[in-house]
Amino acid sequence: MTITTSLAGSKKAFALSVLEGLQRTPKQISSKYFYDENGDRLFQQIMRMPSYYLTDSEYEIFDLQKEAILRQLGDRPFDLIELGAGDGLKTKVLLRHLSQKGVSFKYRPVDISSSVLDTLQTSLREELPNLEVAPLHGEYFQVLEELQQLGDHQKKVIFFLGANIGNLTREESQSFLSRLNDLLSPGDMLLLGVDLKKDPAIILEAYNDAEGITAAFNLNLLHRINRELDGNFEVEHFKHWETYNPLSGETKSYIISKVQQEVEIGAISSIIHFDAWEAIEVELSQKYSVEEVESLAKKSGFRLVKNFFDSSRYFIDSLWIKQ
Ligand SMILES: C[S@@+](CC[C@H](N)C(=O)[O-])C[C@H]1O[C@@H](n2cnc3c(N)ncnc32)[C@H](O)[C@@H]1O
Repeated sequence: MTITTSLAGSKKAFALSVLEGLQRTPKQISSKYFYDENGDRLFQQIMRMPSYYLTDSEYEIFDLQKEAILRQLGDRPFDLIELGAGDGLKTKVLLRHLSQKGVSFKYRPVDISSSVLDTLQTSLREELPNLEVAPLHGEYFQVLEELQQLGDHQKKVIFFLGANIGNLTREESQSFLSRLNDLLSPGDMLLLGVDLKKDPAIILEAYNDAEGITAAFNLNLLHRINRELDGNFEVEHFKHWETYNPLSGETKSYIISKVQQEVEIGAISSIIHFDAWEAIEVELSQKYSVEEVESLAKKSGFRLVKNFFDSSRYFIDSLWIKQ
């Protein structure tokens, strides 16, 4: 059964975050709110699009280098804690290999979306019935801190894959990884999936598909506000827009109001004004160079063990250890 940590206030947190974000200039809402049941389904479609190279790249790394990754994890039994696990599509390649090789570990997927955790657990029961799975429903640090308070001294291997780290700014990533380091013990490890800087056309194509799946994924945020927070967004009056800055490595998704309009959101008792062509920033997908990844490891108190690249060098899974 999924352990639901103190998420009773999750709807309230969503409402407060929307209120605060839509009162800012420029307007901003966190991409973590993309993932309701509909958002999870749309993201799974995105992962199957050939243009969304991130999935294929990381899948290839795990498929071709699973034994090399296993060799670096050491002999002690461990808890494999995956932050933002999603549907576990790629992780299952490693889970299957570790299980086949008789490695002693428990899998603890963490996700803010309960629906995706349920899907993951059901599929693992069928595909890997002997794997010990203990899902944790909640936000990354809320869950990690609760685990620490339980005084769990088992070795931890943290997976933070799929370039989830890219949703944080560089500064936020640095403090996120330092805070993670503080919660770990010497010998604990982190496998971090990071999307690398590359041809800007390839990056833009990944977030701007012609079929409009990414647009539907992003605009689902407005549908979610309508459904859960009693909003009256007329979604057809908004559009998805994507940019990539090759200097900073920032890929940004915006929702843009096509007309001047007022939107009422009942749960926060607010009427929000939009100018024509006013934008809400909804997602950052930060791209890094290899040197920047190595510097992140050092500055957050980890030692880099090994970098695993895909054959196109589009993506990196970087394995770090807490000293
Ligand atoms: C882009 S998907 C990636 C899923 C998976 N890591 C992969 O590589 O396929 C991001 C996942 O992280 C979860 N997530 C986003 N922000 C989160 C947060 N603050 N705490 C917990 N989970 C979060 C989402 O619900 C979603 O399932």
